[in-house]
Amino acid sequence: MSKHIPKIVLIFFLFVLLITLSAMLAGCNPQARGFALPEGDAETGRDTFVHLQCQHCHSVKNDLDKLADGHPEIGFELGGTVTRVKTYGDLVTSIINPSHKISRGLRPEHVTEFGDSRMRTYNQVMTVQELVDITAYLQTTYEVVTPQYSYYYHGP
Ligand code: HEC
Repeated sequence: MSKHIPKIVLIFFLFVLLITLSAMLAGCNPQARGFALPEGDAETGRDTFVHLQCQHCHSVKNDLDKLADGHPEIGFELGGTVTRVKTYGDLVTSIINPSHKISRGLRPEHVTEFGDSRMRTYNQVMTVQELVDITAYLQTTYEVVTPQYSYYYHGP
């Protein structure tokens, strides 16, 4: 009996491998693929941030204070040091789809009883240019640091 694997079986396996690989690649982040907005202007973005009164709920590290007549119970400081990069995509998503990321690390006062973000939705009032500029501005306010702790347990 021949130990040769029939060619057709080999071709079939190659085919399955190819399909699996391309499915994996496409599955990485299908929403981010082909996502590109024009470059924003950080200085204009800062003006827009003030103009749209984001300061009702947010201060910005070393730059803008939260408004005294804003919402005292919600909101927090944007910018500063983070251990994970606030990517362009993160920031755009936080602004146009605030409830998206709510699963992790949010204080209860930041969400409604339905689990939605208490951040206002600006999609009806903000232009795309304003969004792009605000995102460019916010990106300049974050500073990424490498966490100091070790991932390994040096037990006794
Ligand atoms: C009514 C209060 C309120 C206003 C006004 C508001 N936000 Fe927010 N914002 C929130 C809350 C609450 C969160 C946290 C929950 C969430 O991510 O949706 C948040 C989260 C964010 C985040 C994500 C921050 C992070 O570390 O994950 C960004 C960026 C942001 N807001 C930008 C803005 C911008 C830009 C404006 C103005 C156009 C604005 N916000 C106006 C309440 C507000």
